[in-house]
Amino acid sequence: METLECIKTRRSRRKFLDKEVPQEIIEKIIEAGKCAPSGDNKQPWKFYIIREKNIKKAIVTLDDVYNKQIIPGCDFILIVGVDTNLSPISYIEDGVIAAQNVLLACHDLGLGAVYLSGFNLKDPQDAKGIQKAVNIPDSIMPISMLLIGYPDPHEQIGSKSLKNNKDLIEYR
Ligand SMILES: Cc1cc2nc3c(=O)[nH]c(=O)nc-3n(C[C@H](O)[C@H](O)[C@H](O)COP(=O)(O)O)c2cc1C
Repeated sequence: METLECIKTRRSRRKFLDKEVPQEIIEKIIEAGKCAPSGDNKQPWKFYIIREKNIKKAIVTLDDVYNKQIIPGCDFILIVGVDTNLSPISYIEDGVIAAQNVLLACHDLGLGAVYLSGFNLKDPQDAKGIQKAVNIPDSIMPISMLLIGYPDPHEQIGSKSLKNNKDLIEYR
């Protein structure tokens, strides 16, 4: 798919088919994630692929995860973690930018995905719930939690209107 078309046609998908994503496709989307820019080129990522039902259940029980009822339906959760020892300043940006690459790669490869935050939005320093559920060390910040799978073609996706350029752009 052409890059701009991929960017423009990507939408969050929250309903998935009961169909496993093959390993080679998972590796392709991780490849896309690790091509992302990163502060000082530290490439500080750890990608956690979570299929274990027990771990998904543990995540669903956490208070600080929004829209958690959709978690069991995905084929796997991809947590984009960032090593805060390698990237103590730009760890949030490093994580989010890799996550966006993954979302676009998913769309290009015919997968559906939705972005959830990996940390407690009320206290971005706190990710203890996810760290414990997934057995992630304290030094790795789980920035993004992407739910991924083959999209259910029957999912009703609301239309999305984009803001006008004139309200978004200021020339100086
Ligand atoms: C920082 C961030 C947090 C998000 N958290 C959630 C979430 O908790 N649950 C959810 O269903 N979608 C979540 N989303 C997805 C947004 O709802 C979605 O991107 C937005 O509605 C625009 O729709 P689109 O992705 O189809 O373009 C999140 C997206 C971002 C960037």
